[in-house]
Amino acid sequence: MKNIFDVLKDSHEKQRILLDALLQTSGDTQARQEFYASLKDELTKHARAEERHFYAPLIESDQAIDMSRHGIAEHHDIDKVLEQLDCTDMSSAAWLKLMKTLKHKVIHHLEEEEQRFFQSAGRVLDTEQKQTLARQYEKEMA
Ligand SMILES: [Fe+2]
Ligand SMILES: [Fe+2]
Repeated sequence: MKNIFDVLKDSHEKQRILLDALLQTSGDTQARQEFYASLKDELTKHARAEERHFYAPLIESDQAIDMSRHGIAEHHDIDKVLEQLDCTDMSSAAWLKLMKTLKHKVIHHLEEEEQRFFQSAGRVLDTEQKQTLARQYEKEMA
């Protein structure tokens, strides 16, 4: 039975692969457009489902409220960079610079979740909650 950490990590892995693939493309090409659309879709859907089925239940706990607020604030930060990317020419140096900023922010965020937040959450949630949240998260992502 999968728990919430397994399913969140699946998306994190997908995000890392898409970020690397995207940074290997050049100019305003179809490959760049497609990888960017997939990355944006994954980041947006993941953040939404993660806030609902991971951070929202944790925000109830005194031990986990600070990390939950921090994690959600980072989602907003990432959204802002995506908005800037949306209105920047894909073949420009400015786009590449923004894309590198996005990668830096996303990688930092994923590491913080996996290396710190999941440990704290592991102490707050019980086994059944971890499995129920995984099912709810997957249902929303589908
Ligand atoms: Fe995440
Ligand atoms: Fe996140």
